[in-house]
Amino acid sequence: MKAIHVGLLGFGTVGRGTWDVLRRNQEEILRRAGRPIEINWIATRTLDRAREATRGVAGVNLANDPALVVRHPDVDIVCELIGGVDPARQLVLDAIEHGKHVVTANKALLAQHGTEIFAAAHAKGVMVGFEAAVAGGIPIIKALREGLTANRIEWIAGIINGTSNFILSEMRSRGASFETVLREAQALGYAEADPTFDVEGIDAAHKLAIMASIAFGVPMQFEKAYAEGITKLTREDIRYAEELGYRIKLIGLARRARDGIELRVHPTLIPAKRLIANVEGAMNAVLVKGDAVGATLYYGQGAGAEPTASAVIADLVDVTRMHTADPEHRVPHLAFRADRLSDLPFLPMAEVATSYYLRMRVEDQPGVLADIARILADRGISIDAMIQKEPSEGEAQTDIILLTHLCVEGRVVEAIRAIEALPTVAGQVTRIRLEALA
Ligand code: HSE
Repeated sequence: MKAIHVGLLGFGTVGRGTWDVLRRNQEEILRRAGRPIEINWIATRTLDRAREATRGVAGVNLANDPALVVRHPDVDIVCELIGGVDPARQLVLDAIEHGKHVVTANKALLAQHGTEIFAAAHAKGVMVGFEAAVAGGIPIIKALREGLTANRIEWIAGIINGTSNFILSEMRSRGASFETVLREAQALGYAEADPTFDVEGIDAAHKLAIMASIAFGVPMQFEKAYAEGITKLTREDIRYAEELGYRIKLIGLARRARDGIELRVHPTLIPAKRLIANVEGAMNAVLVKGDAVGATLYYGQGAGAEPTASAVIADLVDVTRMHTADPEHRVPHLAFRADRLSDLPFLPMAEVATSYYLRMRVEDQPGVLADIARILADRGISIDAMIQKEPSEGEAQTDIILLTHLCVEGRVVEAIRAIEALPTVAGQVTRIRLEALA
């Protein structure tokens, strides 16, 4: 039986993992795919590493020019594991142009250029698999696209950045500061030397934009996502949240609201009793609410060589099974047929309705709380819970922490401005959004 041939672009952590798992489990994979899946080309800048890994295996060609692999007549599937937008975008488009199917782990590429890539693939009748682009080894794309296909998806809430979750877990369990834990995470290799994408919520927003597209049948629109990271979170807020029965997590939330889609990544208080609130360390989890199925939760490793390879190979098997099928009879890339995508609008943050944690430093004197409550009440914002700390010995100021019921963000921003203008309030009000995820 003729093997299907894979050209690997990139032989870093995931490329090496894909090579290893494909070889180790080749018998099982053959029994599933019905045909051997063989990597016959590897394009990499680290030729020595690839040479050492592939030593003794016949039929593997190494190159340092990926352009050669995407055009090679003996490559059926191009597996893009380089990451980043350039040159990955051009390589993927070239591969499609040459009639190759594509499997990619590249969330930034798809979130920003998915529309162009899927249109090109559709025109050429080739498949683009991207299970590995979201939440590493968790088969969330398969679940959303196929397993939950009967449902009207209402919302998705995910812990989809392991680095941030590791930092928040350590801050909570040890009472350490963001800076301290970030330095440790970098030393351990969890966080990149430049951790901006991870800690500023951008990596999570890429993944969220991809999931939202499949869940709601809309084009990928990363530029519509709101992203706020964890860099300003303090251990005090994490501790106060805990006193109130909540955990703070970096949550990516996509919700079908009455007037449009909410697409937002930000630190979020969630009830400590929820399963997802107990996802610790570098693990990922995605909670999906469908109208028929209710809430479903997917948990696993969101990064790493073999967890990500697990997702890459699942796509390779899918392509192997389906490549001879009429393109019209394959599962659509975005779950919905390309000509039936919807133009549902995305809501600006000012129109999003959520609950809030507000912390402020105030003078401990009569009337202060009444003034704050009045500002909130005037804007229709209802208080759900409150704690006020006794001032420390010799101090005239104290912290007040309020939780609000659901309200529209624009009004909360206005209220915060008014509270900050009170002479009895010192400095800025800390605002963290809160989701019940019920
Ligand atoms: N940098 C990502 C994370 C893993 O920390 O989860 C790859 O998507």
